[in-house]
Amino acid sequence: MSKIPVFIDCDPGADDILALLLACNMPQLDVVGISTLCGNVEGDKTFINAKKTVGVIGKDIPIYRGADSPMFRELITGKNVHGEDGMGGIASEIPTPNINDNSEKAWDAIYREAKAHNGELVLVAVGPMTNVAIALAKYKELPSLLKKIVIMGGSAAYGNVTPSAEFNIYVDPEAAQILFKCGAPIYMLGLDATEKAVLLPEDIEKIGAMTSNQAKFAYAILKNTMDFYIAHGHAGNCMHDPCAVLYIAYPEIFTGKPAGICVETKASITRGKTVCDMYTDIKFGFENAYVMTDVDRDALAEKIIEIIGNY
Ligand code: BDR
Ligand code: CA
Repeated sequence: MSKIPVFIDCDPGADDILALLLACNMPQLDVVGISTLCGNVEGDKTFINAKKTVGVIGKDIPIYRGADSPMFRELITGKNVHGEDGMGGIASEIPTPNINDNSEKAWDAIYREAKAHNGELVLVAVGPMTNVAIALAKYKELPSLLKKIVIMGGSAAYGNVTPSAEFNIYVDPEAAQILFKCGAPIYMLGLDATEKAVLLPEDIEKIGAMTSNQAKFAYAILKNTMDFYIAHGHAGNCMHDPCAVLYIAYPEIFTGKPAGICVETKASITRGKTVCDMYTDIKFGFENAYVMTDVDRDALAEKIIEIIGNY
């Protein structure tokens, strides 16, 4: 089976870490690079968290550092979900491997890998879209070099960080607007699907019974963020970022449809809203993304448990 080359841009971040653990162990995917940026926590911490995660995975995957701030705005973090260290407080317990002191910047690595893979590379973005937007601004041919861009971000219906906006888009709306206008095929795993993609406490305990280092790490991360999700009315942990990597290999467990999307960059209450033209009578007149609206939760949980069980 030829594997799908994937480059993951992320801001680890608990669910980013789970996405990395899954992607690097899915038999269908070849993770050719990881880039990091500020988002859930500051850029120096997300870079170290990615290194620690790759250290636990035990594979030689290059990691590139990217933006330390959004394009035009002050950074807003997600420490209320992910903790001060981005790992729910356990970062100091995970060794930082002496690997990957890579000086190439995220946007340059994304472009170089896209070129090297002759139109086959899937770019996954599960943090704010800053690194991707810089790559798109710097390399005009990038959209034509990518197979697709799969993002966790946005929502057709409602927000999480505000009533209007999902966190990744809210943090850097201008970057997200550049992404949605770029012309590459975009697949959006927004809150409409990812808030239904819940790992229930009983699913998490199945992972807790596993003995590999990666499973123990995944379990610790899941346990540390469970209280937040339960306190906010979810039945378990939302698998926001894992949805993006699972979608690449298992699109059949998701439901969606094409839509026109614009990002609100001017307003304050609706800052970062992904205005999705899905239900309107008179349409925008363009469709620039495929928007996932639902997921088969049981199938998703089964896949996650199966992949982690094979670590
Ligand atoms: C998104 O925001 C971040 O906190 C998560 O890592 C995920 O990418 C969910 O809104
Ligand atoms: Ca993220």
